[in-house]
Amino acid sequence: MSRIVYVNGDYLPEEQATVSIFDRGFLFADGVYEVTSVLDGKLIDFAGHAKRLQRSLDELEMKNPTTEDELLEIHRQLVARNDITEGLIYLQVTRGAADRDFAYPAEDVKPTIVLFTQAKTGLADNPMAKTGMKIISIEDQRWGRRDIKTVQLLYPSMGKMAAKAAGAHDAWMVEDGFVTEGTSNNAYIVKGNSIITRHLGHEILHGITRAAVLRFAREAQMKVEERPFTMEEAKAADEAFITSASTFVMPVVEIDGEAVGNGQPGEVTARLREIYLDEMRKAAV
Ligand code: PDD
Repeated sequence: MSRIVYVNGDYLPEEQATVSIFDRGFLFADGVYEVTSVLDGKLIDFAGHAKRLQRSLDELEMKNPTTEDELLEIHRQLVARNDITEGLIYLQVTRGAADRDFAYPAEDVKPTIVLFTQAKTGLADNPMAKTGMKIISIEDQRWGRRDIKTVQLLYPSMGKMAAKAAGAHDAWMVEDGFVTEGTSNNAYIVKGNSIITRHLGHEILHGITRAAVLRFAREAQMKVEERPFTMEEAKAADEAFITSASTFVMPVVEIDGEAVGNGQPGEVTARLREIYLDEMRKAAV
C-alpha cells in the first residue's frame, strides 16, 4: 500500500501527488514548515506547532490555507490512513505557484499546502538517549531570520554532512563566539544547578519542544538561564543536550572530540527527557 499524502485539499497516493514547477517554495524557498511527532497514534503538542506556523506565515505576509481545526483534522486523517503509531508529520505551506518574479505575486494566488507522514519506530525508545550524541561546532552562516521556520535548509544540510564527515552526529552553530543552536534542534548545557540555553530572538528557531522542556524544568524547580553560551563553556559543562520535535530531549556526550562531563548522558538530561515524554503523551491529541 502506498503512503497517502495531502496536497491542496486532496488525499492521494504519494505517486499521484504533484506541485507546480512554478511553485515559489521550489523557486525561492518561499515557504514555511512544521514537523509534529506522533506517539501512540497521537499528536505531540499540535497546538504549539499550529501557533508557530501562524507566526511564520504572519512574518512573511503569507496566507494560511487552513483553520487550526482543519489542520488538526488533516493531521489525524494522515495518521489514520497511514496507520502511524509512531513517527512524524511534515507540513509545508508555500506562497503558491506564480510566474517567476522576486516580488510576491498578486493576492489571488493560492498558497500550496502539503503534508506527509514518516513512520518511525523507536522515536521514544531511541537508543541514542542511552549513549548520547557527538557533535562538532561550525560557523553559523544562515540568514538573519531563523525564528521563521522557512524551508531554506541547505546550510543545516551542509552542517549535517560536515558532522558526518567528522564522525559525529550533528553540529552546533556558532555566531560571534556564541552558540546559536543545532542544525535542526535547540542547544543546551547544564552547569551545577542551571540549565543554560540561548535566549529567544531572530538568531534561533523558537523551538516548540524548547518551550515545553523549559516549562517542565521550572515546574520541577530546576534553574533555567536563557542566555548565550560559548563552545568553551559547553565543553566545560556537566551535561549537554538538544531538543526538537523528532528527538525530544537527547543527550550530547562529546563536543569537537572532547567529552562533556564524564562522557556519559547526564542525569538532568535523562530526567527532562522522561518528564517531557510522560507529560506530552498525556497531553497528546
Ligand atoms: N527542526 N532549531 C532548528 C534550526 C530546527 O530546525 C528545529 C526543528 C528546532 C527545534 O524546534 P522544535 O522543538 O519545534 O522541533 C530548533 C525540525 C524537527 C526539522 O527540521 O526536522
